[in-house]
Amino acid sequence: MKGAVPSGGSFLVHRTIPAADSMVTASPSARYSTYHAAMPEGPGTAPVIRVLIADQIAHIVEDLAKLADFSDQVDVCGIARHDDDVIEEARLRRPDVLLVSSAMGGADAATLAAQLADAAPGAKILFVTPPGVEDGVAAPEIGETVAPSTTGAELVAAIRRAQGVDAHEPAVAAEPEEPMQEIIPRRPRRAGRTRGEIFLVYSGKGGVGKSMIATNLAVGLSIDTGARVALVDLDLQYGDAGVMMQVDKHLTSIEDLAQHGEVVDPEVLQEVLATGPASVRVLLAPASPELADLVTTANLRAILRELGKTHDYIVVDAPAHLEERTLEVIEQADQILVVTAFNVTAVKSTRVALKLFQSLGVEMDRIAIVLNQSRQKVTFARGDIEQLLRFRVLVQLPFDTRVDESIDHGQPLVMSEPRSEMSKQFRALVDYLTPDAAETDRAHADDRARVPASRRRFSLGRRQS
Ligand SMILES: Nc1ncnc2c1ncn2[C@@H]1O[C@H](COP(=O)(O)OP(=O)(O)O)[C@@H](O)[C@H]1O
Ligand SMILES: [Mg+2]
Repeated sequence: MKGAVPSGGSFLVHRTIPAADSMVTASPSARYSTYHAAMPEGPGTAPVIRVLIADQIAHIVEDLAKLADFSDQVDVCGIARHDDDVIEEARLRRPDVLLVSSAMGGADAATLAAQLADAAPGAKILFVTPPGVEDGVAAPEIGETVAPSTTGAELVAAIRRAQGVDAHEPAVAAEPEEPMQEIIPRRPRRAGRTRGEIFLVYSGKGGVGKSMIATNLAVGLSIDTGARVALVDLDLQYGDAGVMMQVDKHLTSIEDLAQHGEVVDPEVLQEVLATGPASVRVLLAPASPELADLVTTANLRAILRELGKTHDYIVVDAPAHLEERTLEVIEQADQILVVTAFNVTAVKSTRVALKLFQSLGVEMDRIAIVLNQSRQKVTFARGDIEQLLRFRVLVQLPFDTRVDESIDHGQPLVMSEPRSEMSKQFRALVDYLTPDAAETDRAHADDRARVPASRRRFSLGRRQS
């Protein structure tokens, strides 16, 4: 992969295998194991086929979701999003099977097969080809092709056939249980750092509370630390951060910066930003969905760079679907808050998201889980969710009927209900995200709700008026 994301990320560190006797019976959670890309095969463990997926990001996410229930048979060891990266990734990841979209342009099947044979000897190719265009890629080197619409089970079967293991059903064998990812304390801000920190609020699914969290976090950061905070609504088509921050009447939005391409004028940026509660500066999503495409990745990069010069914290509210612009922020983010909720689909999509981050080489210490009770009814316990994700939850936000009201009034709950459990949890989140601030201020924690904006401790500069 190009860009700042390291290719062999820290996810791929080999882990120690638990003692053999602990592998005899698989615990229920082992089936949901998210991270075993580099797990060495232990005795009694069915070989897991390592698959590298080369496709557009949206299709990669679909495939990850399809394959999520088959982690005992297939492991996505890497992804490639650009033609140029496919062979390089194969060389690094050494997959057993390359699952490659026929839409990846680039080399023809025979050339790709030859290059792959050199990069990852023994790896097989499985083409993803829409029905009707199979002939276009047919070559003696390539056997079967698979349709994009295929189900997870069919895809796994095709991968197994490509790998040459179709003769037998997989041995049902115990998988070594993945270690639980404990909370990693954040490092204090590096002395002399002049760029603001980026916190991305992300989930693989809509309606789990991303925007509620991003807005409350931005306001909470501003109130609790006195720092200069910006909020970027990256849900460019359906963004509602403006409504939640009561600045939806503001006339300028990110689309006004789109025409500036890779250079964003700081003065223009200041004019385009709205000012919401607690002086949080808000970069709104375009007024109408079709304008979203005007904002390019390079454009967004320039915007974040410029915002980072004049703000201590930049909170980014992500859209529900994954696209290049979100990937750009994933690469840059100092902390990715993965939002999940108490229901099966939310937890499932979180597993897929974690798997995706692993494939992208995102370091574990940049990821934290926020569990939000977005509905009254709870299907799981927090402990179950942690077991399923193999990730400790950083903060749990309660269900609060006042959330809807606060959205309607455009006033985040941390402002209107500072004594609520919700606000308490947001303060804990802010403390986690700003260790230097939390450290120096622990003694005054109780004053926080009473004298909010008085604390200006580590701002990069003065807050803009
Ligand atoms: N903790 C909560 N308590 C009560 N309702 C919530 C909570 N979190 C989210 N909601 C509800 O879920 C809806 C969706 O939240 P939102 O932040 O817009 O999700 P997303 O941005 O992930 O699509 C909100 O309008 C609100 O009604
Ligand atoms: Mg949203």
